[in-house]
Amino acid sequence: MPGKPKRLEHPKIVYFVGFIFGLITIAVVIGVAYHLSFSPHGPAVLRPLTAKFEEGKSTILDEVRQHEEFEKHRHFHHTVSNPQLPEQKRPVCYICHSDYPHGKNKKVRALLNMHTQFFVCETCHLEQQEGQAATYKWYNPLDDDPKGPFFGTSYDPATGNLIEGDDPYSKISPYIHAGGKIESAIQRQDAPLALDYMKVKDTLTPEQRDNVKKKFHVNIKAKGHECKTCHSKGGILNFKQLGFAENRAMDLEQLNIAGMMTKYEKFYIPNLFQ
Ligand code: HEC
Ligand code: HEC
Ligand code: HEC
Repeated sequence: MPGKPKRLEHPKIVYFVGFIFGLITIAVVIGVAYHLSFSPHGPAVLRPLTAKFEEGKSTILDEVRQHEEFEKHRHFHHTVSNPQLPEQKRPVCYICHSDYPHGKNKKVRALLNMHTQFFVCETCHLEQQEGQAATYKWYNPLDDDPKGPFFGTSYDPATGNLIEGDDPYSKISPYIHAGGKIESAIQRQDAPLALDYMKVKDTLTPEQRDNVKKKFHVNIKAKGHECKTCHSKGGILNFKQLGFAENRAMDLEQLNIAGMMTKYEKFYIPNLFQ
């Protein structure tokens, strides 16, 4: 009826019910908007936008970074930067393998990767021929006669930490005795096969690549040396000749390092001293 004043005094319950319906409406609107824009079940019209923001975020990369962080600290809490060699001076293995080549065996991969910071691959992976003798020396691709002191060869008497030395490039490397001389058993990236491979690698078929891989793997055994090959008395390394201090050599022979035993005995140590 016209002229009749609006009714103002609704019971409270009406406001309450109205409020609830309001909430439901908002929820439905948000749901529909989500369904249309981002939901994996809908047309996802706005997905490309979020993808843009998530760019550079990758679980794989995150894991790699984490792994790298871990490896860095693994090296006896070694915090010195690890300088990269010029490509031509790097061992040939790095054309195809990374600095962290061990991935399969979760229990030892970090430990094995740690060893690649002071060993070239062949120190563990060289397939020695029958009757062939090998000698191990520190090898520095930038210095024909590195003198050390080399990383980790002795303890700092003041702190008890390993000395770091100031030669970040040298690694222990095998040499084969041949006709009264010793010859390096490693291939570098400036070796003819490597240079040739770098030139043509992008044009090779997967089968051809596999064939070349086999050439690089000549004299490389699939499993590297076991721990006790070095960490034992009479192991293949002559610690004294390599410049290790006597107490350090003894610790390495026995892997007599505080905390070590409990940490690793579960997997590799049981076979270590057999
Ligand atoms: C042309 C590329 C290439 C070069 C150079 C290369 N590798 Fe490999 N290597 C491979 C590939 C590919 C595999 C197989 C990887 C896999 O199965 O995960 C492999 C596997 C291996 C394996 C595991 C056992 C096996 O045979 O599957 C070892 C050990 C190995 N490489 C060591 C080395 C060492 C040491 C060097 C340097 C002397 C080297 N590789 C150089 C490509 C290469
Ligand atoms: C301290 C010794 C040692 C050194 C140094 C070493 N390896 Fe190994 N490597 C091993 C052992 C032991 C295994 C077998 C691990 C297992 O499966 O138990 C292995 C296995 C591998 C495998 C196959 C299994 C995997 O973990 O993926 C590859 C590939 C490999 N090594 C590459 C390399 C390359 C490349 C280098 C040099 C950058 C290198 N290794 C240096 C000891 C070593
Ligand atoms: C080819 C010889 C060799 C093999 C094989 C080898 N190691 Fe070593 N390892 C060494 C040498 C040498 C060092 C010390 C390097 C340095 O300080 O410069 C070392 C260092 C270590 C350290 C660190 C010691 C410290 O003072 O913190 C541990 C732990 C270790 N090795 C455990 C192992 C285990 C476990 C295996 C088997 C999975 C193994 N190693 C295989 C030679 C070897």
